[in-house]
Formats: sequence, C-alpha cells, structure tokens
Amino acid sequence: MAVLTTPNLNVMIRAAEKASRSLIRDFGEVENLQVSTKGPGDFVSAADRRAEEIIFEELKKARPDFGFLMEESGKIEGKNPDNRWIVDPLDGTTNFLHGIPHWAISIALETRGEIIAGVVYDPIKDEIFHAEKGLGAFMRRSRLRVSGRSDLMQATIATGAPRNSKESREQFFKEYNAVMNITPSLRRFGAAALDLSYVAAGRCEAFWERELKSWDVAAGWLIVKEAGGFVCDIDNDRNNPVETGNILAANGTLYDDIKKVLKAA
Ligand code: IPD
Ligand code: CA
Ligand code: CA
Repeated sequence: MAVLTTPNLNVMIRAAEKASRSLIRDFGEVENLQVSTKGPGDFVSAADRRAEEIIFEELKKARPDFGFLMEESGKIEGKNPDNRWIVDPLDGTTNFLHGIPHWAISIALETRGEIIAGVVYDPIKDEIFHAEKGLGAFMRRSRLRVSGRSDLMQATIATGAPRNSKESREQFFKEYNAVMNITPSLRRFGAAALDLSYVAAGRCEAFWERELKSWDVAAGWLIVKEAGGFVCDIDNDRNNPVETGNILAANGTLYDDIKKVLKAA
C-alpha cells in the first residue's frame, strides 16, 4: 500500500524540493559557464552554498531546536542534543560542474545517534527516494525493494574511487580488479547518495566505496536497509559505515560474496 509520510519526512521533502529549484536554475547556468575560459568552478561552489542555506532555513523553521551536520557549514549544535540533520546539499558536484544530469540532495535525520529518516532527491529525473525507520523505503508512492538477482554474472555493481592518498587509490584498484573478476558490469556514476538509492531500487545489486563522509551516506544507508538490503562497514561489522565512510551495500543474496572478495583484495 501507499506510504503515509510522517511530519519529519514532509519537512525533509519540502526542504529538498525548495533547494532543488535553486539548483536547477544554477544547473542551467553551468552550461553557459562551461564554455567560458574561467569555467563554472566558483559558480558551482556558490550553488552548493545557496542550496545548503535554503535547506538550513527550511529545516530550522520547522524544527528550531535540532542540530545540524552539513557539508559546507559543518556542525551546528541545537538546543535539543538528541536530534540533528545530516545534509549534503549537492551530492555529485563534479557531475553538476560538467553539466552531467546526475546529482542529488541528501538529507537525513539522526536521533540519539541513529538515522531514522532519509531523503535523496534527484531533481533532474524528478526521483525522490525516501525511508523512515521501520516504515519501508519508497520512491514517491512506490515501495522500493532491492534486486532479487543472485547470479553475479548478471549483476551491476556501482563504486566510487577515493582521491585522498596514493595508498587509498591503490587499495581501490585492488578491490576493483577483484570485483571485476567475479562480475562483468561495474559502474562509477559519481553521486554516492544516488548509488545507494539505486541499490535500494534494485537498479544495481551492490555499491561499495571508501572514505565517504556521513552526509554522503546517512540517508542512503537507511533507504537501502528499509528496502531490504544489507549495509555494512567494509572492514568490520561492528563499525558503523555512516561514521567510517567505508561502505558496502548489497542485496541479501550477493552481499556475503562481495564482502569476501573486497576483504581479500
Ligand atoms: C562525492 C560523490 C562521489 C564520491 C565522492 C564524494 P560530492 O560527493 O558522492 O560519488 O565518489 O567521494 O565526495 O563532493 O559531490 O558532494
Ligand atoms: Ca557528497
Ligand atoms: Ca556535496
């Protein structure tokens, strides 16, 4: 049956939709700037900050006491220490910068250290993925379920590459190679929040990436779980991937195999 969104989720969706209008306008401008000598670099960081400001204002208006963890502005303590919003106003900045229509807004609500609601909105495709703890994951009104594919040869696996150090790049290539040996179809789409949402929607069987930040994965983590998928820290089941940023998400049948391969790489 169709979802009934709760007040928190409504607030999050409203904030994402409002910010999306500003981002869509700016995305249109990027095409002009793309061909200028200066390029759209500074303009895109301003677009990013504008979107974050809109989301901040909307969420603050609706829940004045909640805290924030946002990519651009960092931590803002709230009067209410139990609740905070985790916000990436533009996930997939490099795509946005190049006029590639694959980027999203990601907003999660964390209550006493646990993610209880998540929204990932891709305004160009008008796809809004959302979930609340215990209430399932949805795209608009359709329920999301991870894919039922159990044959690795039929699987599509998304990933992303860390840029931070030579060591992390080398580790990535080892893992990429190892996964390539068990499945032919790897993808690098460039927006981690959407990669996770695509696992939830059954479009990809799995996604892994290291060195992400909480704002990249907080909403997507819940969306995958509520769609019946498995999500973990790649190295240690006791760690929380929303904190470590080393994340593997997969459908239940392929999860163990992929995890084994990544660990052995
Ligand atoms: C990035 C995207 C990308 C991932 C990067 C992230 P940003 O977020 O999610 O897919 O590979 O590691 O930093 O910078 O576009 O918000
Ligand atoms: Ca991001
Ligand atoms: Ca971002």
